[in-house]
Amino acid sequence: MMEIVILPDGAAVGAAAAARIAAVVRRRPEAVLGLATGSSPLGAYGALAGLVARGEVDLSRVSAFALDEYVGLTPESPQSYAATIRRDAVEPLGLDPARVRVPPGDAVDLEAGALEYDRAIREAGGVDVQLLGIGANGHIGFNEPTSSFASRTRIKTLAPRTREDNARFFDGDLDQVPLHCITQGLGTILEARQLLLVAQGEAKAAAVAAAVEGPLTAMVPASALQLHPDAIVLLDEAAASRLTLADYYRFTYAHKPDWQRVD
Ligand code: GLP
Repeated sequence: MMEIVILPDGAAVGAAAAARIAAVVRRRPEAVLGLATGSSPLGAYGALAGLVARGEVDLSRVSAFALDEYVGLTPESPQSYAATIRRDAVEPLGLDPARVRVPPGDAVDLEAGALEYDRAIREAGGVDVQLLGIGANGHIGFNEPTSSFASRTRIKTLAPRTREDNARFFDGDLDQVPLHCITQGLGTILEARQLLLVAQGEAKAAAVAAAVEGPLTAMVPASALQLHPDAIVLLDEAAASRLTLADYYRFTYAHKPDWQRVD
């Protein structure tokens, strides 16, 4: 099923995502988390760090796999997703850095590195809960429009729109943004036992509506969530503003049976 939850603001989205991740880890302290970069998951990481600080959940035994990485940046480069994940998630959440992996954007043999990454996820027992943001063009991870729903971790060329959106992390200089990336495929992402997509702000409203209510299409990679048996979409009012059935989602959430509630 896909559950769409409309919340008053970004802080509520972050708190709800954190509550769901914490619930998974309380059930299974050695859970495998799927981590995302970008601004969307920052509220979730912040709220989760609060739960850790208050002793409400312990994340020190989890392992984690990031979704994607730029090709050509070393993990030491501050713009790399390896560095971003260290800053935004590993340090504030108290994760064990030895158990956190990011796709190898600096591998000599990128194809082998991509295959090995998928294998490592499988060997870890698969991802229990995968946190996802959504790009303005409907991408998840770096699966740009026309990505196959069956795709595995692989090299992709970044869409011009994505490079423009991400230039802000490279001193606003488009030329510095890498052309290629290595990303978990849509098929890889769909194997996670639970998907948790978070989106805030008007700029995501069209992509969210297309992903959730539009047809299943490779033109909107996030529409792959419709194929997943346990996908939760947490939205603030602005990100939900283009949904046709918004009132229905609010009604459903308000009347959710207690046994289904996490927060
Ligand atoms: C980036 C990342 C995605 C992220 C998306 C949205 O390019 N590869 O994983 O979800 O774009 O980013 P933001 O959350 O900053 O809007």
